[in-house]
Amino acid sequence: MKLEILDPDEWAPIVGARLVAFLPAGRRRRICLATGSTPEPAYAVFAAGGGALDDTEVFLLDEFMLPEGDPGRCDEMLSRALLDLCPAPPRALHTFDVSATSLDAECRRYEERLATRGLDLAILGLGGNGHIGMNEPGTSADSPTRVVELHMATRQNAARYGATSPPERGVTVGMRSLLAAAEIWLLVTGEHKAAILKQVLTEPVGSDLPASYLRYHPNTTVIVDKPAARNL
Ligand code: PGA
Repeated sequence: MKLEILDPDEWAPIVGARLVAFLPAGRRRRICLATGSTPEPAYAVFAAGGGALDDTEVFLLDEFMLPEGDPGRCDEMLSRALLDLCPAPPRALHTFDVSATSLDAECRRYEERLATRGLDLAILGLGGNGHIGMNEPGTSADSPTRVVELHMATRQNAARYGATSPPERGVTVGMRSLLAAAEIWLLVTGEHKAAILKQVLTEPVGSDLPASYLRYHPNTTVIVDKPAARNL
């Protein structure tokens, strides 16, 4: 696992430009994208810097169990933070149908699409409780894409993102598919993430801190700003 510590002013320009370089025109890439407040400035730089998704297949990382169009939903956040800023839609966009009659079948469908050709890159954020996507503490490293009960902190995140009511459940890409990605960028910013980042990087790898599984992945880069790195 590589660790990069950047000045707060440089963090978004560097991550955004790196994503532009990762998605050159003509190359068919498959990427999984987190939403939430952490990646948003980098996505804005990507779009402003000429980034395009025309040749890219995008998989949304997770989704809250909220009605279609709810501003706190992850697909809405992805549209606001990235898709609406890009000149053209992605080559393909995979999101979760959380109103499906059988959510288990919907999760299996998503997992099958992920497995077709694997992911070239997963861009992930770090939850304040050590979660990745909605893989909450207690998650095993081979967890599939599935429905999950959300921890209180994650429900509160949804409210912070604008959800009209705090969801109790969500669906998430599981650790198994994420750990199978060719490359992972774990994005962490802000002093409020300093304590959990230190735990994730130094405490024993295990289900108490799902993000710690990334330490076993052969090509993960943790890209943090200086405030998040203050305890390291
Ligand atoms: P944040 O959320 O980027 O809004 O801090 C990250 C997460 O909880 O996964």
